[in-house]
Amino acid sequence: MSELRPETLKRIETTEAAEAFIAEQVEEIRKQVGDKKVLLALSGGVDSSVCAALLIKAIGQNLVCVHVNHGLLRKGEPEQVIEVFRNQMNANLVYVDAVDRFLDKLAGVTDPETKRKIIGGEFIRVFEEEARKQEGIEFLAQGTIYPDILESDGVKAHHNVGGLPDDLQFELVEPVKFLYKDEVRVVGKTLGLPDTMVYRQPFPGPGLGVRCTGAITRDRLEALREADAIVREEIGKLDPVPWQYFAVVPDIQSTGIKDSKRYMGWPVIIRAITTVDAVTAKSVEIPFEMLCRIRDRIIETVPGVNRVLWDISNKPVSTIEWE
Ligand code: XMP
Repeated sequence: MSELRPETLKRIETTEAAEAFIAEQVEEIRKQVGDKKVLLALSGGVDSSVCAALLIKAIGQNLVCVHVNHGLLRKGEPEQVIEVFRNQMNANLVYVDAVDRFLDKLAGVTDPETKRKIIGGEFIRVFEEEARKQEGIEFLAQGTIYPDILESDGVKAHHNVGGLPDDLQFELVEPVKFLYKDEVRVVGKTLGLPDTMVYRQPFPGPGLGVRCTGAITRDRLEALREADAIVREEIGKLDPVPWQYFAVVPDIQSTGIKDSKRYMGWPVIIRAITTVDAVTAKSVEIPFEMLCRIRDRIIETVPGVNRVLWDISNKPVSTIEWE
């Protein structure tokens, strides 16, 4: 039986409620870890970012944040983690550029679940190496949230593999484990994290890896990253903002024509969905004018792309991700 949210914990909907929660957690964390060091894998997603910000407030430099850039992050994400946590919050941040390591391992791999296993497994290995370089770590912080506990059978648990070896089984610090996502966002905002971090759409652990279908190549991945930034910028203007909206660049080519010459290029697929729980999902209506603007921006600026498509499929039968 999983742990249940304490009845004394009222819903956090206001800044005042978040401030009270933060004060309480800061005290709890200090009581739990004292002057010992804590390690955290900081992806830059809402949960790990809020967890990091709470720990920084509680123990400052005794939190060691490790940000692994596996090459499958969205445009601007590693830079934002460095800017917010190292430059603005003065965090003890270890930035690991593991791009080549991941992309070399993934070269030629086409099966989606094998890709996931490689990404998850390699992530644990990189994190383990960094953990071994640190002296005196006694705790591991995790941005576990309440739905993760309730759905130990859910998507994250289902897809994400791995775990540290036995000799690195530190005691866990999980300050937001009884919060729902909307509450985590209120706490994050109150802690001063930027809106682009606090209101980020869900992003799968394997990142762009499941949206660059089939065998990932660096050029197609780069095209995906650029196209995805355009799609996110434009569709982010919708009100309400969809649950998830992103680009996919599949491993297929079609004919294009430029200066009277035919050539092969990739399509960019636009996907925007709304859902309550990701178990079912509906395609979101995107105004045609917006689609045309996205098309023009992508075709004009993203090398290798000669076609733009819109995926209007619902789940079921189409999963949200393409792999
Ligand atoms: P699907 O594609 O199964 O996705 O409809 C449902 C939700 O789960 C996310 N997703 C993942 N999240 N690791 C994750 O942490 C994964 O491997 C993974 N695959 C899919 C997806 O973005 C959607 O929100």
